[in-house]
Amino acid sequence: TRKVTTHRLMEMKERGEKISMLTSYDYTTARIVDEAGVDAILVGDSASNVMAGNVTTLPITVDQMIYHARSVVRGVKRALVVVDMPFGSYQADPFDGVRNAMRMMKETGADALKLEGGEEVIEAIRKIIGAGVPVMGHLGLMPQSINKYGTYGVRAKGDAEADKLLRDAKLLEEAGCFGLVLEKIPAALAQQVTESLHIPVIGIGAGGATDGQVLVVADMLGMTKGFSPKFLRRYADLNAVMTDAIGQYVTDVKSGGFPNESEQY
Ligand code: KIV
Ligand code: NA
Repeated sequence: TRKVTTHRLMEMKERGEKISMLTSYDYTTARIVDEAGVDAILVGDSASNVMAGNVTTLPITVDQMIYHARSVVRGVKRALVVVDMPFGSYQADPFDGVRNAMRMMKETGADALKLEGGEEVIEAIRKIIGAGVPVMGHLGLMPQSINKYGTYGVRAKGDAEADKLLRDAKLLEEAGCFGLVLEKIPAALAQQVTESLHIPVIGIGAGGATDGQVLVVADMLGMTKGFSPKFLRRYADLNAVMTDAIGQYVTDVKSGGFPNESEQY
């Protein structure tokens, strides 16, 4: 099993081979996701919601992202591991961004980082890439800006926001990003961006024309409840599987059926 590189993702785009990406935040899940053959694993700051139960991604810290990323890296042999830089770790000062990026790479062994934003954060992105760190961009719905938007609705439906997104995507490619995530934008716009860039574009809620797809693993496995945007396809109902298994365990403990003769010393 040869390790997937950022270069390999670029080749996949050239060949027209679609790229599969999923999130992971812990060793056990990352190992399953990697062995199942996913090309890239995102240690998303969605860990703030999925792992910690926060309402937004804003509270998660660099130290917490490092803990999640180290755990994931230990479980992965093949997939490219990309880690989200959290809110506040690169927006205030580009040099802060470089220092945080260095820490996140040194202390985790991850392959690359992802940052949200275009023109506003382009200096940080240029300097981080300049320091030798592969960076993935993220445009469209940017959950770290939820307090600015006020809603998790579809972005760039109007011409002004769509034009800015196209300019930002070009800017990110020129800055040397190896890939770009587009979240929750019209499929036609995502197709336009995908066709106008040489770097691979990975979509979530951005239609089928992008070079690849990413989903939050807990969502696509059906572990999370009450989150059903139409882009989310559920490939399993782990919530039901886990609830049934745990309910059975409780029943067995209460009845004295667990453990039995062969399950004791
Ligand atoms: O944090 C995350 O899970 C993400 C994906 C939704 C792209 O950024
Ligand atoms: Na994220």
